[in-house]
Amino acid sequence: MAQEFEALDIRPRGIQISNLSVSYQTQTGDIPAVNGVNMSIAPGKITGIIGESGSGKSTLAMALMNAVPRPGRIMGGSVMVDGIGDMLTIDKKNRRKARGRHIAFVFQASQNSLNPLRRVGSQVMDLGRSHNVKDLRALIQRAKELLGQMGLDADRVLMSYQHELSGGMRQRVGIMLALVLDAQVVILDEPTTALDMISQASVLEIVRNIQEERRLTTILISHDMGVVADLADYVAVMYAGELAEAGPIEEVLAHPLHPYTQGLIKAIPRVTGPLDQAVALAGQPPDLRALQVSGCLFASRCPKRVPSCEESRPQYEARGVDHYVACFRVNDHD
Ligand SMILES: Nc1ncnc2c1ncn2[C@@H]1O[C@H](COP(=O)(O)OP(=O)(O)O)[C@@H](O)[C@H]1O
Ligand SMILES: [Mg+2]
Repeated sequence: MAQEFEALDIRPRGIQISNLSVSYQTQTGDIPAVNGVNMSIAPGKITGIIGESGSGKSTLAMALMNAVPRPGRIMGGSVMVDGIGDMLTIDKKNRRKARGRHIAFVFQASQNSLNPLRRVGSQVMDLGRSHNVKDLRALIQRAKELLGQMGLDADRVLMSYQHELSGGMRQRVGIMLALVLDAQVVILDEPTTALDMISQASVLEIVRNIQEERRLTTILISHDMGVVADLADYVAVMYAGELAEAGPIEEVLAHPLHPYTQGLIKAIPRVTGPLDQAVALAGQPPDLRALQVSGCLFASRCPKRVPSCEESRPQYEARGVDHYVACFRVNDHD
């Protein structure tokens, strides 16, 4: 085995996100997709980030790697990764090394992002070469182990082109590519959204198994509270580019403080209950350009809104151990 793999570094790494802001600069104006986000990602745990489409989840995830694509720009803040430093200010060489090697990213719809012209095995080799892995055979061996663990015929998959694999298989290949370099942090952006229920369940089980086995610091992005409730240790709820609430998952599920979180939990479809108990949230997510508003971003959709909610923005503050919320009505139980 190559030395790199013998010296497996399994120290879990935490991440401290401070005041992180990202804007997309478009001809019609700046879109503040992530606005002053503060958050700690616990080492060796699964943190779910949940919110509706357009709430800024993918942008936040890309900002953690300092990889926001144009016309996006990181406007400020820091992303301190244990043992690495601030991803937003470290030099290019170390940042490139950190990506892939220490922090792995499974893109949204990654089952479509494999190179269609290269066999999976060649792509593993490409990845190894781009990170200066000396022993490519050991790397292939690691890829086989991971694919096997995910219930795939590893030899067959490594010889395949993407079009020869099903959506569920491609997604697992994407996860394998993210993990094969033994990263300690993995960011999964909607890893199961494009999959059928069966593949979804098996991909989530794989994520959980590998996370437990390797004590990975895992960031799981989803628009589905059910997925996060099943898998995560912590959850952060995003709304219109800001955090509405965050905390340990059991605590947030049992005592959601933000009306938006309460709505998301009510919307979890229950296998056992009548379907109509899953109440969809009313209203549309706001246009992010509407962030000029001075009041609470959720006010227009909020069942607990009072006139003062439209006047100023509630502070995002602690309401218990590791439990944070931005809402004026936390203590009002009507
Ligand atoms: N390439 C882009 N150009 C302009 N605006 C963008 C771009 N990508 C995302 N946005 C804006 O940022 C917001 C957040 O997007 P995104 O981070 O993809 O949200 P999510 O992952 O929660 O669906 C979107 O509502 C969109 O308006
Ligand atoms: Mg997204």
